[in-house]
Amino acid sequence: MHAAENKVIDEARQGEATVVSTSLSNEKGKVYIESYGCQMNFSDSEIVASVMAENGYAGTRNMEEADVIFLNTCAIRDNAEQRIRHRLSELKGIKKHKPEMLVGVLGCMAERLKEKFLEEEKLVDMVVGPDAYRDLPNLVNQATDGDKGMNVFLSLEETYADISPVRLTGNGLSAFISIMRGCDNMCTFCVVPFTRGRERSRDFESIMQEARDLFANGYREVTLLGQNVDSYLWFGGGPKKEFRKLTDEERSNAVDFADLLEMVASISPQLRVRFTTSHPRDLTDKVLEVMARHNNICKYIHLPVQSGNTRVLSVMNRGYSREWYLERMEAVRRIIPDCGISTDIITGFCTETEEEHAETLSLMEQSAFDYAYMFKYSERPGTPAAKKMQDDVPEDVKGRRLQEVIDLQGRLSLQSNQNDIGKEFEVLVEGPSKKNPEEYCGRTSQNKMCVFPRGNAEKGKYIRVKVLACTSATLLTEITGYID
Ligand code: 5AD
Ligand code: SF4
Repeated sequence: MHAAENKVIDEARQGEATVVSTSLSNEKGKVYIESYGCQMNFSDSEIVASVMAENGYAGTRNMEEADVIFLNTCAIRDNAEQRIRHRLSELKGIKKHKPEMLVGVLGCMAERLKEKFLEEEKLVDMVVGPDAYRDLPNLVNQATDGDKGMNVFLSLEETYADISPVRLTGNGLSAFISIMRGCDNMCTFCVVPFTRGRERSRDFESIMQEARDLFANGYREVTLLGQNVDSYLWFGGGPKKEFRKLTDEERSNAVDFADLLEMVASISPQLRVRFTTSHPRDLTDKVLEVMARHNNICKYIHLPVQSGNTRVLSVMNRGYSREWYLERMEAVRRIIPDCGISTDIITGFCTETEEEHAETLSLMEQSAFDYAYMFKYSERPGTPAAKKMQDDVPEDVKGRRLQEVIDLQGRLSLQSNQNDIGKEFEVLVEGPSKKNPEEYCGRTSQNKMCVFPRGNAEKGKYIRVKVLACTSATLLTEITGYID
């Protein structure tokens, strides 16, 4: 993975605004796409780009020359939405000189606010939810004729399985493959089930085809994406409750996440396979065993814990206890001893006490996470927590608890990297390091960024490196071998 791209990915996972602009190639008009939020959203922008290109729209990286601007938005926390509002106010300036320019708001914030967007933001011409991207050319045509349009229909079936994404970001080595859409978990704090609808899995054959094509086109790393990948199940399509209606024989033919992972890994030992996000309740030993069996399935799991206290986990409706989570961590360490593990943490969720927060800190120490994405609780309108609970932890307390979590994770990340000093790792070479172009960089299977003097390293090839020193973010290494 390229350093710059990875920054995009890291920021993306935090649900923060990250901008990706792009070029498509056609003639009907020029489209500029800006993406915010998680990897799933970035992956969706690639579907949007494909739908628009198929319909004759060219892309541009220059917003000023665009005929259509799409903001693919995120609603995960209030600050994500604030940034998008701010961006829209900037767009007003551009639209002043260019009144014929169309602005479409896509994605999660569009789905959350629906027609309110058209009422509140006069500049917006289209509001389009995550399951309605096939309708975009139609909505653009309509808007060209002066009719503002909206499609926020959430589907039980749409997976865009037949759409070949236009790769917008990256360096031609790493790509996302969306394997499912939506989420059925109903964590009380989370807006995603409302913005992305019910969980549905994508046909495994179309996933395999996409992965094979990427490999044939020189890609060397794919990341399988879903809100809860462990829940992936292909049995012919549609919502999961239909699975119960199948005969025993039909059920035995179903493809679960472990099966899918194994199939993708078997495409080539040269193709690295990553995935995100796992759910602690659903992560099975079967998945861990498949990971352990295949060298090219990266030894890295993102396993969001959210809180270290069982009562808080229960009011979050996470479906597991502190003990369950720690048992899953033990299973990971037992089955994949060298696995990198990262997590997500929310501080100051409704009713969280000081003692309960202290349990988050102790769980972090016990788990020795390599990395964490850490957030203050942000109430999202319409979620179960917003409807039934009081956002009663004062802002300054949330902030102080967050700082404690960040400080602790800083120490744990440094410790994790220090533990690697003297060890050897296999690295996929990405190219020149961003900070120092004299050096090259690449990631270990555990997802740690390594820098090294170039030697004979070539982008897209695997090498072995030895760790000489580290910072809390990077391993400073030297090449010890080249792998064919
Ligand atoms: N407030 C703060 N953080 C949240 N997340 C999800 N919803 C909220 C919210 N309302 C965090 C969770 C999740 C990550 C993607 O964002 O930690 O795992
Ligand atoms: Fe944001 Fe939607 Fe992704 Fe959640 S699913 S992080 S709300 S873009």
